[in-house]
Amino acid sequence: MLRILVLHGPNLNLLGTREQSIYGTESLETIDSALMNLAEELAVDLDIRQSNSEGELVNWIQESGSGTHGIIINPAAYTHTSVAIRDAIAAVGVPTVEVHLSNIHQREPFRHHSHVAAVALGQISGLGPSGYLLALRGLHEHVTAKRKVTKPPSAARRQKNASRSRRG
Ligand code: DQA
Repeated sequence: MLRILVLHGPNLNLLGTREQSIYGTESLETIDSALMNLAEELAVDLDIRQSNSEGELVNWIQESGSGTHGIIINPAAYTHTSVAIRDAIAAVGVPTVEVHLSNIHQREPFRHHSHVAAVALGQISGLGPSGYLLALRGLHEHVTAKRKVTKPPSAARRQKNASRSRRG
């Protein structure tokens, strides 16, 4: 089973009440339960966490290591400031999709740069809560395709291949 870690950064715990004209009215809980529903459909094991602390996010990324097949992260304000989060993602080498509810490129200039984008598989920005669901679908497809290419053949497949080559 694929395991995917979902990380929500600072102030995203306030979704639903926070700057509704930018971030909408959906709470983080609603977003998370939509993610859980899709994860069940895709047979993905999701671990969803939120933190207002940069160090905690870095620790969770570091801990993800080899047991995690993908990361979906909305680093929120840390997107624009955190070399530490970027470095942690680069260090673990887990395919990561960056998500933003708002279109950061249409907002204030200080939000246009993302430290995370350069080490991410991709970025989804401006599609609201659907962005998380698209990220999950995209990451699932990416990781599944990669696993098919890299997975060693099963014992049965090895035997079949061997007898095929004996037959010439
Ligand atoms: C955000 C965009 C960031 O610039 C901002 O600091 C956030 C949320 C988004 O989801 O649109 O907190 O990541």
